[in-house]
Amino acid sequence: MEALNLHDGTVYLDCTLGGAGHSLEAASRIAPSGTLIGVDQDDMALEAAAQRLGTVPLDSEPILLKGNFGDLDDLLLEARVPGIDAVLFDLGVSSPQFDFPERGFSYREDAPLDMRMDPSTQTLNAAEIINTYNEADLARVLRDYGDEKWAARIARFVCDERRERPVETTFQLVDLIKRAIPAKARRTGGHPAKRTFQALRVEVNHEMDVLRRGLDAAIRWLNPGGKIAVISYQSLEDKIVKEVFKKMQDPCTCPPDFPVCVCGKKPVLKVETRKPITPSAEEIERNQRAHSARLRVATKLETN
Ligand SMILES: C[S@@+](CC[C@H](N)C(=O)[O-])C[C@H]1O[C@@H](n2cnc3c(N)ncnc32)[C@H](O)[C@@H]1O
Ligand SMILES: [Zn+2]
Repeated sequence: MEALNLHDGTVYLDCTLGGAGHSLEAASRIAPSGTLIGVDQDDMALEAAAQRLGTVPLDSEPILLKGNFGDLDDLLLEARVPGIDAVLFDLGVSSPQFDFPERGFSYREDAPLDMRMDPSTQTLNAAEIINTYNEADLARVLRDYGDEKWAARIARFVCDERRERPVETTFQLVDLIKRAIPAKARRTGGHPAKRTFQALRVEVNHEMDVLRRGLDAAIRWLNPGGKIAVISYQSLEDKIVKEVFKKMQDPCTCPPDFPVCVCGKKPVLKVETRKPITPSAEEIERNQRAHSARLRVATKLETN
């Protein structure tokens, strides 16, 4: 909230509204004349947020938009604002989504393998990936998006199993993962299914492409001097944020041995966090789900 430099009148965009925890705090800082725009692709999140934001002290009603931040351009056209002063991305799944077992995000509850963030528009779900991707593709997804060391073995166990019967539930998959990862390796690194479940969620929701598109659009819509803050919870996401910020800060594509820049690409961002900001031990103590959070912040430059 501090990094976003919010004050009375700020146009604040929350690209991951969720339960509106951040937005509620932001609303009090931009009141009374600020504008709050919240985006989420999840109906449950939007309902919860609408309730919590019902009594905010803003002159104008919060604008809550259902959709994917990968389509931010369309969403913001709908909001009819000329530009944005502060934008937040707090990536990933919200706690309530984890707490509804039937969504299939949690390896701790038995449910159909789903993991679609927006079941009303998406068709590909986790069960389809598990039962139709070839072994090599499956291993690649688990390795690239989950940092899973045992990706190849898990993929093999899945493919062996599905020749007998389809893998349709979270517990069926958890069971396979536990069998695929050697007992010794299972004793460290948290729940053995954590990385596989994360990887499937990223694949189901095309999260990496969407993130790139969303960041790109958000930065375009930022007013000069405007702030962008992104909280990510996994290394691949954080890497994308870091890369996008860096590219916008230093977009020159001239060969390094050119004495002067001839490509003419000018910086559009100033990165405020050389290293990401991470939660304190005390915050992690209070909120276990914050443990992997990394916050990066940048400022939009004047362009001419
Ligand atoms: C970690 S939660 C946000 C919590 C929120 N900051 C709060 O304080 O309550 C992430 C939210 O982003 C939403 N989300 C994730 N990816 C999205 C996307 N590509 N487009 C729109 N919403 C997305 C999820 O549905 C979820 O509600
Ligand atoms: Zn150049």
